[in-house]
Amino acid sequence: MNLMLKYNMAMEVLCNDIDTLIKEYVNKNNYNPVNHIEHRIKTLKSAYDKLEKKGYELTDDNLFTQIRDMVGYRIICNFLSEVEDVVKLIESSKQLRIISRKDYITHPKDSGYLSYHLIVEVPIYLSTGIEYITAEIQIRTLAMNFWAALDHKIQYKFPGEEIPTEVADELYDISVKARDLDTRMVELNEIMNKYKD
Ligand code: GTP
Ligand code: MG
Repeated sequence: MNLMLKYNMAMEVLCNDIDTLIKEYVNKNNYNPVNHIEHRIKTLKSAYDKLEKKGYELTDDNLFTQIRDMVGYRIICNFLSEVEDVVKLIESSKQLRIISRKDYITHPKDSGYLSYHLIVEVPIYLSTGIEYITAEIQIRTLAMNFWAALDHKIQYKFPGEEIPTEVADELYDISVKARDLDTRMVELNEIMNKYKD
């Protein structure tokens, strides 16, 4: 079967599963830890570019085994404190199998990048049986998303080269400020909780 079709099926299962988990959470806790969700399926062109960069032959087999973020899903929270809740939410899924995780919030990347990453296997239900498709789930706050979006734009301006030190340093500095914003927003939220009702 066409690989892209399988990735589309996996995305549907993933969207449905997470949507259900969030609805359950909202019903139970009376609040929504999610600001919004973004998702995309990587284009074949950018998948092949990535394979090439990693030094693999451009085959379907390599695409399937080496590119783990063909199905990309991103959950954006309002508050830093909610990231953990969302990770737990996904851990509670009966469908998704978590195969690895990277906590770039506790351990930011050198660039300043902040996010919590999960690599999961998503089941798709074919007439021939269940198959598992790998997907990447990124969980981050609005502030982290803001930083990553601008960083991404800047990276684009320097294809295949290192970004100039003054730009990289400034970006790193801004990411520290984004972290500070997140901490202060959590503090403000705690104050606001006193005023509930
Ligand atoms: P790839 O980078 O995707 O080859 O995989 P990896 O195994 O190195 O995973 P990593 O966790 O480093 O990155 C996965 C994804 O996180 C990327 O595809 C980006 O979406 C995001 N990411 C990682 N580092 C950065 C960064 O410095 N800036 C931005 N904007 N996004 C990043
Ligand atoms: Mg990387």
